[in-house]
This record gives sequence, C-alpha cells and structure tokens, in this order.
Amino acid sequence: MKAVILAGGTGTRLLPLTSYINKHMLPVGRHPMIHHGIETLRKAGIEEILITTNRHSAGMFIQYFGSGAELSVSLAYRIQEGAGGIADALQLARPFIADGEKFLVLLGDNLFEEDLTPFIQDFKEQQDGAMVLLKEVDDPHRYGIPVFESDGSIKHIEEKPANPKSNLSVTGLYMYSSDVFQRIEEISPSSRGELEITDLNNLYAAAGLLTYRTLSGWWMDAGTFESLKEASARYWDIEY
Ligand code: DAU
Repeated sequence: MKAVILAGGTGTRLLPLTSYINKHMLPVGRHPMIHHGIETLRKAGIEEILITTNRHSAGMFIQYFGSGAELSVSLAYRIQEGAGGIADALQLARPFIADGEKFLVLLGDNLFEEDLTPFIQDFKEQQDGAMVLLKEVDDPHRYGIPVFESDGSIKHIEEKPANPKSNLSVTGLYMYSSDVFQRIEEISPSSRGELEITDLNNLYAAAGLLTYRTLSGWWMDAGTFESLKEASARYWDIEY
C-alpha cells in the first residue's frame, strides 16, 4: 500500500521555532520529527510515500531524505500552495493513487509506537469506506473526538469540542481508497478557511462507512511544545 504524509501547514503552536523551520523537520530525539513517521510506515510494509509540504520547506526535505533510498523507501514530493487545510493537502495525492486503490494518510506531526500492520491488514479486508485509529487522551479538546451510536459505531466526529463526548481522540492516521478525492469535492472551507479532515471523515460516518480501531500503544501529536518535549525524550535513544 502507498502512503501520503502531510507536512505543510503553518505550525503556529510551535512559534517562534516554526518561523524559520518547518515543524516536521524539528528534532524529535536524534532525527527530524517526520523521519519517525517514515520509519513507522516502512516497518508496516509501506515502500512508496508521497510527502506534501509548502514551497519554503520542500528543499529541506529533499536535502535530508532525497529519493528515500537510504531509508529503503521511494519518496515523491508535491507542493501545497498556502495552508488550506488537511483535506486540501490530501487532494495533491490524486495523481499518485490509481482508481480503486487503497492508501494511508499520515499527519506528519503524529508519532505512533504501535506496529500499524494489523490495522492496515484489516483495512485491506474492508469492503469500502474509510478507517481511523483512536487513542485515549487526557486533553480531548485538542483533537477530533468521535460521538458514538449505541451500537458502538461512529455517528460523527466533533473537531476540538469544548465539551468532548469521550476521551478517545481521532489520531492522524487515516485509511481511504481513491473515492476520497470525489468526497473532498463535496466539502467546503470551515470558518477558519480550511478544508477539514473531520468534515471529510464525517461524510463517511454519515454514510455508515467510517470504521475504527483503538490503539493500545503510545501515540503523540507533537505539534505543541509540551508534546514535542515528551516525544523528544521518548525517542532520545532511537537511531535509524
Ligand atoms: O493529531 C490528530 C489531530 O490532527 C486530529 O485529532 C484532528 O481531528 C485533526 O484536525 C488534526 O488536528 P490539528 O489541529 O493537530 O491539525 P494541524 O493543523 O496541526 O495539522 C496536522 C498536520 O497536517 C500538520 O502536521 C501539517 C499538516 N497540514 C495541515 C494544514 C492545516 C498540511 O499539510 N497542510 C495544511 O494546510
């Protein structure tokens, strides 16, 4: 299966560091943040990865990763003009994915301890729709939080709710097939002017086509100073 890593955006929660360096190239332990994501994908058998980023940062990614040969993956790059949202960045993957092909999307600031292989296998066996991975968190107001039906399926997801209905967060690992590109055309920019991944996932949920699995291992969105510090400590001894 192929994967897309989204590594654009503005990284405002990590200012002033992100005024001169792309968030995903900040050090987490001994490697740039996104390097850990690539390793997680590679360990799960993903060999072809598209990285989307902005025009200011692309040179740095290419300088560090090149073709990906040293990491035993094949890397391609696409440029997102501006920061129009996660689903806006995802649209750039359209030429990379064949009709009917299933693929993974990873937010470049997400770090996963767990082996993703079993979840990918489950998604391969899933007839259609999308799959998300959930993880219990202490600070649900920071994330996309699902509201469940009585049968345990996801009714819809609330993005950064003031009154979260659960403490399970939707993590930044999404599995789709190529029909996602038609669905992106159905969503409109939110009040903050972004094409939201949560609005996209809610289209699947409304159609009863959004499945999920729950992670037991450590997971982190390293997009704040606190989480960056915790992630860095955890990865300190890890070298590739
Ligand atoms: O980490 C999980 C959370 O990620 C989910 O629970 C939320 O539902 C989801 O909306 C997202 O929330 P964040 O507030 O953390 O998203 P952020 O704006 O930090 O963007 C996440 C990644 O997506 C970031 O690493 C860069 C990439 N991105 C973001 C934007 C807005 C792009 O590549 N382009 C963009 O325009």
